[in-house]
Amino acid sequence: MAARVLLAFLCLVLFASPFLRVNAQDEDEDDETDFDFYYLVLMWPGAYCQQSKCCLPTTGVPANDFSIRGLWPYSTAYEEPVTNCNSSPWNATEISELQDELNLHWSNLKCPSNNGVSNWKKAWKTYGACSGMSVAEYFNTALELRENVNILSLLAKRDIEPTLLYLYSVTEMKIAIKKGIGASPQIRCSKGPEGKFQLYEVYICVDNKDGKTIIECPVEQNFTCSDFIYFTPFNANNLTTTNYNNPIDMVV
Ligand SMILES: *[C@@H]1O[C@H](CO)[C@@H](O)[C@H](O)[C@H]1NC(C)=O
Ligand SMILES: *[C@@H]1O[C@H](CO)[C@@H](O)[C@H](O)[C@H]1NC(C)=O
Ligand SMILES: *[C@@H]1O[C@H](CO)[C@@H](O)[C@H](O)[C@H]1NC(C)=O
Repeated sequence: MAARVLLAFLCLVLFASPFLRVNAQDEDEDDETDFDFYYLVLMWPGAYCQQSKCCLPTTGVPANDFSIRGLWPYSTAYEEPVTNCNSSPWNATEISELQDELNLHWSNLKCPSNNGVSNWKKAWKTYGACSGMSVAEYFNTALELRENVNILSLLAKRDIEPTLLYLYSVTEMKIAIKKGIGASPQIRCSKGPEGKFQLYEVYICVDNKDGKTIIECPVEQNFTCSDFIYFTPFNANNLTTTNYNNPIDMVV
């Protein structure tokens, strides 16, 4: 009996949900910030500098750590980030208090050396304006999330440290991060030394209600990666304004 009631209820929910969804969309028609969660995307500069030229930012040496690639409002239905909402204009003055933190943790290593501002402006215009936050809130939220997550130390706790002496299991990396944040991260790889894959980016899902709570990701990104990958060394002090000659190239 109970099972039947449950079944009937489930059928109702399944039947009704597409209509509920349509209604919700109708109501939100003018709301450009319709998304289901945030992706905090963190990038490992060791991989970035291994696969492309990178340069010391004009603002100085960034942190020897994962850096912020972005905070993306993401639509589960469309399976992609919600982008290019033109609601709030970019205003650099609003992030002046966050400048030092941004230089350390959301720097742009692209050559030629630059001060990162065009990168932040682009991040705001593409993703931030759709986040439902103000400019200051958006960048502050990303900085705080990165600090709370602290991937590098979570990996180090399980003896996963940058080296080319051996490859690491992607599963072990995910477990190490999950132990710390309570949810599974998604790992994006790139082609690294010796044609093997390397850790490139870590995707973490965040509740869209508070921009703080880490959640299990509602969608799976189908990144190509092997079971064992490199965690390529990086030393921010080695960056130069001309071109960071990653010594790893010589290993290949
Ligand atoms: C930019 O933000 C600053 C600080 O909040 C504010 O004083 C200024 O009026 C803003 N400028 C524009 C053009 O909105
Ligand atoms: C990943 O692959 C699964 C299974 O093929 C698919 O259902 C899902 O939509 C894919 N995810 C994305 C974000 O494309
Ligand atoms: C940084 O530079 C030192 C000195 O040239 C070098 O020994 C080391 O391998 C470099 N480290 C990285 C990760 O690039």
